[in-house]
Amino acid sequence: MSERDLILNIIDNNASLPYGTIAWEAPSNIALVKYWGKKPGQIPVNPSLSFSLQHCLTRTEVTFTEKRAKSKKPEIGYTFNNRPTKAFSTRIENYFHSILTEIPWVTELRLKINSYNTFPDSAGIASSASAFASLALVLAQYEYTLIEKAPDAAMFQRASHLARLGSGSAARSVYGGWASWGLAAHLPDASDEFAIPFTEVHPAFKGLNDAILIVSSEKKAVSSSKGHALMDTNPFKSMRITQAGNNHSKMLEILKNGDLMAFIELAENEAMTLHAMMMTSNPGYILLKPGSLPIIHAVRAFREKTGLPVGFTIDAGPNIHLLYFNEDKERIVPFIKNELIAFCEDSHWINDGIGQGPLLLNHTFQVE
Ligand code: DP6
Repeated sequence: MSERDLILNIIDNNASLPYGTIAWEAPSNIALVKYWGKKPGQIPVNPSLSFSLQHCLTRTEVTFTEKRAKSKKPEIGYTFNNRPTKAFSTRIENYFHSILTEIPWVTELRLKINSYNTFPDSAGIASSASAFASLALVLAQYEYTLIEKAPDAAMFQRASHLARLGSGSAARSVYGGWASWGLAAHLPDASDEFAIPFTEVHPAFKGLNDAILIVSSEKKAVSSSKGHALMDTNPFKSMRITQAGNNHSKMLEILKNGDLMAFIELAENEAMTLHAMMMTSNPGYILLKPGSLPIIHAVRAFREKTGLPVGFTIDAGPNIHLLYFNEDKERIVPFIKNELIAFCEDSHWINDGIGQGPLLLNHTFQVE
């Protein structure tokens, strides 16, 4: 019997569900090949590839207890840093509503959810990937508790699937290191439904850093969800899908063979294309800020001058993610301090890098 059938059996037999607490920590991630554009059901139009960060994390703790009222609705309470938050609470409620057929057991329980980010809200870093990944890991782990199974690769795949339904990029945040999401002919195990870890990576990439240069922490004028939707009518859509597929295949080869300069050049090409897609949408829009541009120019001039493999990627926002390697740290950190942080909001930057992935923080259940 499949895990899913086992779970449904437990619910059908009206067995009492266990009460307890589960907490997972999950990382934010940065995409090198960007997911941009989606089909209904949170299905990406192209494959994407990212690595998980080490320091930008969300910790989500969920307490599962007895329901107060008899109804077919789940009872969900959500707090952030132990305080109610209107905007994200609505998104979490909608999320649970949309996945009821996936996790029917949730209607039998009361869930008290509290999340905490290790990075400041003011950093302008999207937390939906780490937030949904940590929550989905808790949900997947609860299912494994129900069927009395120890976590395995299938549990992470299930968590990735559930995370994807909350936010596409969250699908990749249930793993450490590199993760790929979206069908790709050149990666046979790849799927639109969940992300998979990519592990055939050259040791040169172990020391990969991502210095996040906070140009602006203002709320974005156009959300990622709206940006994805605008791809539907973008005149360059089909070309972008072809390019993303090719870049994804090229990036996997680069990760295998360790060509650091090719890595940097391809990462920049993807970042520039993402922002070009925003500008060529209808209506077009610009998420880069005046401070983003001098950083881009300074990074390229520094690379030209030094020959070091240092470059940038950019998310759907104005902040610049500086990619560099451990062996060059002594030259890069002074470069950041002397030439780049002048363009950062309040000189704010976060020195992050490739991380190990999620961590189980708490799993406490009442013994019957
Ligand atoms: C530019 O995952 O935030 O960061 O699925 O609507 O929640 P939703 O979008 P989201 O989009 C992320 C877009 C991106 C590229 C990427 O992470 O691949």
